[in-house]
Amino acid sequence: MNDVFSVELENIVKRFGNVVAVDHVNLKIRENEFFSLLGPSGCGKTTTLRIIAGLEEPDEGIVKIYGEDVTDVPTHKRNIGMVFQHLALFPHMNVFENIAFGLKMRKVQKEEIRRQVKKILEIVKLEGLENRRVNQLSGGQQQRVALARALVIEPEVLLLDEPLGALDLKIRQHMMVELKNIQRRVKTTFIYVTHDQTEAMTMSDRIAIMKDGKVQQVGTPLEIYYRPSNTFVASFIGEAVNLIEGEVRENGLVDTSLGTIYCTESLTKGRVAVMVRPEMVEISDKLHDVDNLFKGTVQSIIFKGSYIEYRVDVQGNTFIVHKHGSAELERMHHPGDFVEIGWRKNSSLIVPI
Ligand SMILES: Nc1ncnc2c1ncn2[C@@H]1O[C@H](COP(=O)(O)OP(=O)(O)OP(=O)(O)O)[C@@H](O)[C@H]1O
Ligand SMILES: [Mg+2]
Repeated sequence: MNDVFSVELENIVKRFGNVVAVDHVNLKIRENEFFSLLGPSGCGKTTTLRIIAGLEEPDEGIVKIYGEDVTDVPTHKRNIGMVFQHLALFPHMNVFENIAFGLKMRKVQKEEIRRQVKKILEIVKLEGLENRRVNQLSGGQQQRVALARALVIEPEVLLLDEPLGALDLKIRQHMMVELKNIQRRVKTTFIYVTHDQTEAMTMSDRIAIMKDGKVQQVGTPLEIYYRPSNTFVASFIGEAVNLIEGEVRENGLVDTSLGTIYCTESLTKGRVAVMVRPEMVEISDKLHDVDNLFKGTVQSIIFKGSYIEYRVDVQGNTFIVHKHGSAELERMHHPGDFVEIGWRKNSSLIVPI
């Protein structure tokens, strides 16, 4: 594991009047990492990014770039590139001129500008479009021009604030894959702000989940999906989640209002939530081979394309069950059906509360 840190935030606090937009944030972002800040609207993502950029001054704390304290260094002296949702490309300039702009400002020689723009055009796959005006490009192509423009100056860190927010779903999905590929090719730290978990999960090496200015958890997409550090993260990540609160009786046993739930984790006494992801739950008229079994009634069923979502009432609690595969269509249950739901004990994941 590479333990060179490109960006470090130490105890960063930023207040706007009574609002604590960033509340004692500590982050260590690794060199060449694709790192996302993910969280609901207003949780402090943009403010954190602007503090890294030097566009916002923190009230407390230290910002370091490659180990150097840059808290008092102005934006233009930090070697940082930025891409935002609203691109602010120059509409009267063509693709080449837009990308070359930053190099011209830096008084780079003409031939060198040509060489660097050509190289970056290959990386973002816009070769052949250098003479097009940017208002003659698709949304996805414009986004790549903005990326190229930010990358051509070879920043140490690239900051991206919801750069795909304005694109439609298909282009966004395509750009997620492209962005990740581009990041691999240029080998630069990307710090990516989004409220869209799919974007964060698809591209990130690690994700910081934020809420009310505080970092809730930092982890790989797998860690935050299967090992959420609290019930907020458990609910925020994933299409849906089943959380059942209870009291630890002993190792592997949690007493809940539904009855005892079996798990495989070693537990210490106290209140916990048992998390069961909807795709881990089985549903049938009669279930076998599960460690946790409950009887319920189907409340609703939604066909989501690649899977079926059931809502099942179990003693007044709603369980969400996802079933993938075309075989499931043939044994579909219907609202009002009595069913059994259940799961193996290693699918009961314990979340602290
Ligand atoms: N310049 C400002 N003056 C006053 N309050 C601000 C200012 N900038 C941000 N805030 C407040 O700080 C909090 C965090 O805002 P921020 O823009 O960082 O959130 P965000 O996570 O980027 O949200 P979104 O997903 O909606 O972009 C919000 O409550 C916001 O209203
Ligand atoms: Mg924002």
